[in-house]
Amino acid sequence: MAVQINPSILSADFARLAEEAKAVRGADWLHVDVMDNHFVPNLTLGVPVVESLARATGTPLDCHLMIEDPDRWAPQYVEAGASSVTFHVEAAAAPVRLAREIRAKGARASMALKPATPIEPFEDLLPELDMLLIMTVEPGFGGQAFLDLMLPKIRRTRELIDKHGLQLWLQVDGGVSASTIEQCADAGADVFVAGSAVYGAKDPEEAVDALRAQAEAATARASWGCNH
Ligand code: DX5
Ligand code: ZN
Repeated sequence: MAVQINPSILSADFARLAEEAKAVRGADWLHVDVMDNHFVPNLTLGVPVVESLARATGTPLDCHLMIEDPDRWAPQYVEAGASSVTFHVEAAAAPVRLAREIRAKGARASMALKPATPIEPFEDLLPELDMLLIMTVEPGFGGQAFLDLMLPKIRRTRELIDKHGLQLWLQVDGGVSASTIEQCADAGADVFVAGSAVYGAKDPEEAVDALRAQAEAATARASWGCNH
């Protein structure tokens, strides 16, 4: 699977979201961080903003739900226009049922793991998912330092994906930048969220292209997989 770069609008200007979406036309997806001030100590946006943003941009929306009770709320984000919906396994009561519901509604189903959540207990769930998100910071805020102790987890997850011959995308989120993206690609990630590294750059579009070039080069050199 080709490398994908998903700018996180958490680092964009919330008063100008439509323009900020246009500033990264080369992006594969727009990453939309939904926070409820309970699952994480920060509050961002909800269904009405996702609905408006979906109407305002042609770039598909990758909604990352950092909220309690995703079983109840996640389907509404599909209805609001998200093409991919990520819930946290730590918050989900019935992750398999929820993933199936997201898929049945027509979006890609994705599950996220906080840094202290291991991948191993979820090996049997992987075929139910279209993407797995490994958090490389504690969720809640942009601009935090990349936790390089997550690299072995990324590597082990890539091994599980290959072992089962799955088409699962492996996303990393948190502290992904020019100095860390190559390590992530080398470990087996193929979808890269970047907030401050894109919207904090002078030219966000150029930052997306540069991150993509770095990730592609590192993927080509990497030893994992056989279909990239
Ligand atoms: C953090 C969010 C991230 C955030 C990443 O909890 O999930 O998507 O925007 O921001 P950077 O890339 O600045 O670490
Ligand atoms: Zn995120």
